[in-house]
Amino acid sequence: MNILVTAGPTREPIDPVRFISNRSSGKMGYEIAAAFAHAGHAVLLVSGHTALDVPDGVDFLPVDTAASMHEAVAHHIGRMQIAVFTAAVADYTPLAVAPEKLKKSADTLTLELVKTPDILGTARSSFGFDGTLVGFAAETENLEANARAKLTRKGCDLVIANDVSKPGIGFDSNHNEVMLVYPERTEFLPLASKHDLAHQLVQAILELHLSTRM
Ligand code: C5P
Repeated sequence: MNILVTAGPTREPIDPVRFISNRSSGKMGYEIAAAFAHAGHAVLLVSGHTALDVPDGVDFLPVDTAASMHEAVAHHIGRMQIAVFTAAVADYTPLAVAPEKLKKSADTLTLELVKTPDILGTARSSFGFDGTLVGFAAETENLEANARAKLTRKGCDLVIANDVSKPGIGFDSNHNEVMLVYPERTEFLPLASKHDLAHQLVQAILELHLSTRM
């Protein structure tokens, strides 16, 4: 099957040398891409900047901003059977990029930000994607309720949720524990390395794909 995975943080430029980004390491997405490839699938990994090596056997499309990730997904999602959105996409981007490096002057500086496209949230409506759609939810409170709201709002078949306020898991860590939120049930996958968890997640996503297409 053809599988799309988005991963890593986006970078939203402020001026030629500065950007707004986040703490996503990209590890979970890269492990998921690697596990799909290991299971014999054709994987396209659309990724923001990370310090990671591209997994063996995975097609790689590097991107920078939320807008460029949106464009890459729009271009490729049509031939995918499964799309897994692990990327930590910036929700807002500077309205304008300063053409020269901003100089220090006043004591305060106000940046005007505008919303970025919700790539996962428009996968069904804008791109007409009718394959298996999997999103991630990084939450600091009300994990299951927030993930379930996201599942409905973004038209997902599954949302994989993790509590980023818990020390030692999630962002930048090699470990994670996640909740699998399906339309009619919730499952919990206990603490494991992102490598091992990725194999469990890929298994769950492939089973979901087959069960919804029988
Ligand atoms: O709404 P929130 O950012 O919490 O949703 C997270 C999910 O949506 C993740 O799967 C993320 O990759 C995806 N997302 C996206 N485009 C955005 C924001 C989030 O694809 N602009």
